Amino acid sequence: MFKKPNNSRDTSWGKSKSDSQNPKKEFGAKPRIKKEFDKKQEPNSYSERGMQSRPNPNFTHNNSFKPKPKPKFIREGKPPDRKETNILDNGPVRLNKVIAESGVTSRRKADELITAGSVKVNGTIVNQLGYKVNPGDKITVNGNPIPEVLRKVYILFNKPKDLIISTKDEKDRTTVMDVVKSSVRIFPVGRLDRNTTGALLLTNDGEIAHRLLHPSYQIERTYSVLLDKELLPKDAEQISKGVELEDGMTSPCNVFFDPRSRKKIILTLKEGRNHEVKRIFMYLGYNVKQLDRKVFADLSVQRMERGEYRHLNRAEIIHLKKLVNLEY
Ligand code: URA
Repeated sequence: MFKKPNNSRDTSWGKSKSDSQNPKKEFGAKPRIKKEFDKKQEPNSYSERGMQSRPNPNFTHNNSFKPKPKPKFIREGKPPDRKETNILDNGPVRLNKVIAESGVTSRRKADELITAGSVKVNGTIVNQLGYKVNPGDKITVNGNPIPEVLRKVYILFNKPKDLIISTKDEKDRTTVMDVVKSSVRIFPVGRLDRNTTGALLLTNDGEIAHRLLHPSYQIERTYSVLLDKELLPKDAEQISKGVELEDGMTSPCNVFFDPRSRKKIILTLKEGRNHEVKRIFMYLGYNVKQLDRKVFADLSVQRMERGEYRHLNRAEIIHLKKLVNLEY
């Protein structure tokens, strides 16, 4: 008897035994075209070749589903690049810089004190400008030891929701300080509301923090805002020119619509008042549903995961200082 080839696609010739037993398949019915997956394939999967199947990380040994652990909500950033906490720990530093950074006086005034013979290093008067001090050196100004000069730390944090910006919380909620670890005491530069996400700078450099927050330096903050309704062009124009809030007129700023939705706004402000974005929109009858700070002082968190933090590199610190007329 003629035997139907095993993998033939042609089913129009006579009925097989199994066909005749199949009540659904009647004579004249359109032949079922076999699909690729009906064919007996050359063994190509791992198991068909008698090999152990490729391990799927989502399945346990008894094949029950076990999802891969999600990345932690809060991720530790790059560890501090240096362990030292004292400015001198890293090698010789100019005497006037150490005095200025100790908070005693400015660098220029420190030079005057040095030339006047008011500064001693390890008990000996040093009146030479450009003199460098080493780790362990004891510096006095007019007989008083200068405070310890801690290494300056600058950390960029991509703040997640539900984290408060405060060094301590009376209700014992999680604060940024519980998450961002540093070998020296740092503080956040400015505020972000609990539910605002995005770029937050933390430092122990009081001078730079003060200047970055001062409106005279016009430091840019770029926010991505989701509103409860579409922003009217006339309101966008008004925001860009400034609106009258209870603490005065807001500065002119840039307002862009997302081309896909007028509820999504990109706003660049040059000052940092408390709850400023929410107050601007509330003034015009809108509610802010989501607020994400994309950029602060040219520092973007675009490539960082939420909850991640990292130390600024040298070029970023130099740039940051330039923005507020400080020398590196
Ligand atoms: N403006 C706000 O309203 N909230 C923030 O967190 C930051 C800016």
